[in-house]
Amino acid sequence: MSTDGGAGAKPLIIAIDGPAAAGKGTLARRLAAHFGLPYLDTGLLYRAVARRVLDAGRDPADQEAAAAAARALTAGDLGRDDLRTAAVDRAASMVAGQALVRAALLAFQRRFAQREGAVLDGRDIGTVVLPEAPVKLFVTATLAARAARRWRERGADPADLAAITADLAARDADDAARAIAPLRPAADAVMLDSSALDADEVFAAALAIIARRGWGCGRGSR
Ligand code: DC
Repeated sequence: MSTDGGAGAKPLIIAIDGPAAAGKGTLARRLAAHFGLPYLDTGLLYRAVARRVLDAGRDPADQEAAAAAARALTAGDLGRDDLRTAAVDRAASMVAGQALVRAALLAFQRRFAQREGAVLDGRDIGTVVLPEAPVKLFVTATLAARAARRWRERGADPADLAAITADLAARDADDAARAIAPLRPAADAVMLDSSALDADEVFAAALAIIARRGWGCGRGSR
């Protein structure tokens, strides 16, 4: 299998970081299917912690409450269908800035990746969670391209584009400015700008990068 046979005997771990709505999730799912690897959307962890805090009637700024929620997280929490509301967006961003929450989620993410290789996407995968990952991609796109994408996905009213743009800009600033695990490319990450590419083109570009790192064409190949 290419997942453990490429580039020596190391399992293939693909770390994908970048800002919201850059196309990380779509790319990560396709790469996981292609290489036969498990996939973890790490943003869901922060969303699920936020959801637990809100459900308990606690304040997401309360670091003890958020840390307790992070320690109590179960696999079932990640499958909930109410993790992408505007309230959870805001609360997730707050809990993601807290050291205790990040520490509580770190071991789970590492174990997930190291069992048999994996694809993980997030903000700090290549820099903090899996600095040894053999493949690191930093997927970006202009703010305008990302806002237009999010707006199309949500089938929103044309008038909402400005609000979506402002919301993404605010989340970018929060993610990049926070003291702990800020959003930034790892020194050895390959940049992939998806502004002018469709999902197929992003996937093809990623496969080419991964092949250059020594992993072949997917399941069953070298
Ligand atoms: O990717 P997303 O929008 O689902 O992420 C939800 C929140 O979690 C967002 O505020 C960024 C944060 N996050 C993070 O700090 N580190 C990660 N590895 C993934 C997400």
